[in-house]
Amino acid sequence: MGVIEAIRSRISTRAFLDKPVPEATVRAILGDARWAPSGGNLQPWKVHVVTGAARQAIIDAVKAKLESDPFGDENTFPVYPENLWDPYRARRYAVGEQMYDILAIPREDKAGRLGQVLKNLDFFDAPVGLFFTIDPKMNPNQWAHLGMFIYAVTLAAEGHGLATCMQEAWTRFTKTVGTALDLPGDEQVYCGMALGYADPDAPLNTMRTDRAEVDEIASFRGF
Ligand SMILES: Cc1cc2nc3c(=O)[nH]c(=O)nc-3n(C[C@H](O)[C@H](O)[C@H](O)COP(=O)(O)O)c2cc1C
Repeated sequence: MGVIEAIRSRISTRAFLDKPVPEATVRAILGDARWAPSGGNLQPWKVHVVTGAARQAIIDAVKAKLESDPFGDENTFPVYPENLWDPYRARRYAVGEQMYDILAIPREDKAGRLGQVLKNLDFFDAPVGLFFTIDPKMNPNQWAHLGMFIYAVTLAAEGHGLATCMQEAWTRFTKTVGTALDLPGDEQVYCGMALGYADPDAPLNTMRTDRAEVDEIASFRGF
């Protein structure tokens, strides 16, 4: 698979086949993704991969937390700025509506929509979950580079025939996940990722999101 094809074909996959992913495949994906660049080549990232009982232990810990506290952990960092403004607000709204339209869950069906959000915490049934961590002492600069690594993982997964969904849904549970993974103090969970084989028959996996045109996001000078 060429790089352009990988960029274009990657989507957030939210329904997976019940088919295990061998450790060797995940190792190969990470072996490719680790070539992501970072300022000063700091490689300010770590990743924890869970499957089987280890995956279930995380799910159980987070669900137990959710039962005792529906708001999850104390917020480590805000996922979005407060009172998000346009065009970002409109884009966020559009992607949500697109998803619930495919699933035929109307706005009034709050329980149905919440149920879909909660599927994040089962990794959308993907057999493998990943958690990306960074040293909390790092600057915003290094967080951006962590993002490059995460994106590289998604593209490498494409190349290996697998599908992914990045998951900031776990940020509400960074402490619970950190404890369940027994992480040291110099590792803070940023986000999760579902990894597995896409279910080709799931309507949700037909979803293709929109993007702003090049002229909306770029300016060209001196050409
Ligand atoms: C860092 C990050 C975290 C995300 N977290 C979630 C999430 O928790 N749940 C979810 O369903 N999608 C999540 N997404 C997927 C975005 O909604 C998706 O990337 C966006 O709508 C564009 O769609 P596409 O990935 O299919 O191109 C996340 C994406 C990124 C980059």
